[in-house]
Amino acid sequence: MGNILDRFQETFTDIRKTADGKKFKVGIIGCGWIAEAHIMEYQKMPDVEIVAAADLIPGKAEELMARLGVKGVRFYPNCNALIDGEPDLDGVSICTYNMQHAPCAIYALEHGVNVMLEKPFTVTLDEAAAVCRAEKASGKLLTIGFQPRMSENMQMIRKIVQSGELGQVYYIQSGGGRRRGIPTPYGTSFIAKETGGVGAVGDIGSYSLDMLLGAVGYPKPLTVTGYTSAFFGKDPGYYPTHPEYAKVFGVDDFAAAFIRLEGGIILDFRISWAMHMDTPGDALILGTKGGLRIPSTDCWNGEFDKPLKIYKTIGGQELSYEIPLIPHAPDDPGLFYHKLRAFVDAVKTGGEAPCPSSQILYNQAIIDGIVKSAACGREIEVQIPEI
Ligand SMILES: NC(=O)c1ccc[n+]([C@@H]2O[C@H](COP(=O)([O-])OP(=O)(O)OC[C@H]3O[C@@H](n4cnc5c(N)ncnc54)[C@H](O)[C@@H]3O)[C@@H](O)[C@H]2O)c1
Repeated sequence: MGNILDRFQETFTDIRKTADGKKFKVGIIGCGWIAEAHIMEYQKMPDVEIVAAADLIPGKAEELMARLGVKGVRFYPNCNALIDGEPDLDGVSICTYNMQHAPCAIYALEHGVNVMLEKPFTVTLDEAAAVCRAEKASGKLLTIGFQPRMSENMQMIRKIVQSGELGQVYYIQSGGGRRRGIPTPYGTSFIAKETGGVGAVGDIGSYSLDMLLGAVGYPKPLTVTGYTSAFFGKDPGYYPTHPEYAKVFGVDDFAAAFIRLEGGIILDFRISWAMHMDTPGDALILGTKGGLRIPSTDCWNGEFDKPLKIYKTIGGQELSYEIPLIPHAPDDPGLFYHKLRAFVDAVKTGGEAPCPSSQILYNQAIIDGIVKSAACGREIEVQIPEI
């Protein structure tokens, strides 16, 4: 079996590039929790300069930049003012809450600015399609912020499927989810309808979908039967220090769905911010020649603590093999660094988007389909809009 395992141990390609002398000018749009991670990674890149920042809350961008020691930044009260005021931008990191993803991305692209857009892509499929159209018309680069894609262990899943060792994939079960993990450490922007737009299904469901759909080549979703609930989010007892959050909660905290994908693949999906269970189980990929078990992760940060496991029948024997976890190099700067570095490098070299909208449109179509099917209580057909 050693030979089979060796086929999955491809050498890691370091995507860092040496600086060419010209600084890449970046603006930060939305200066909350995740913007901090973007800024700290850009600060590690000698060829990148943070030139501008915007937030709707007065003083928030200024406070963040001062705290992180970023100097010489120009400040703006919102996304559009920043884009209008900075004609020389090479790119923006859009770190707003979900409901502002589409309007900000469209405005940036329409004004000729390359975009790193945080996940989830958008809230609705129509919004995602509108962003794709703006991208196409602009000829600029748009990439979506799924940093688990940068993990070698996550990439191993795709390599295994693409190697053909599983044969024809016909069934995928998503796994993972949180027992208690409605994200409210910095307020209510994830749980209010007017800012978050969608709940667990968009927030961490989008990661789960990216991992699994990415492995099988992002087939088009055809139909969705979806269910969502909000039993925990709407319960004041869930938030001992902030019972008032229950009234604000306007999204889902659990979702399940049965999705038919092009190519005859069934996706059996579930995700949770909160439930009375440790995990709904591992993710499974079943093929005609083998099966793959992907250990449950609870936060979709691109890590799992147990090895992947392959199941095959060889010479009449039912066998299973563990794929050893690839350890991080001690000097590896981490997934967030790689995600932003890949964006900068793709723009500088005229390369492909590391996480292209053409794929994530289908991710968004499933999220949208789950929300719509849950609302009407029956299966819906997915219609992918013309781009
Ligand atoms: N990739 C990851 O690991 C990861 C982790 C956490 C959050 N996220 C994503 O990042 C996004 C932001 O999350 P967060 O936790 O930082 O939220 P947050 O609420 O802490 O910050 C968002 C900020 O955006 C600002 N904003 C909204 N619309 C704006 C506009 N038009 N112009 C300027 N500023 C605007 C808000 O005022 C707020 O300060 C979410 O979509 C979330 O899903 C990604």
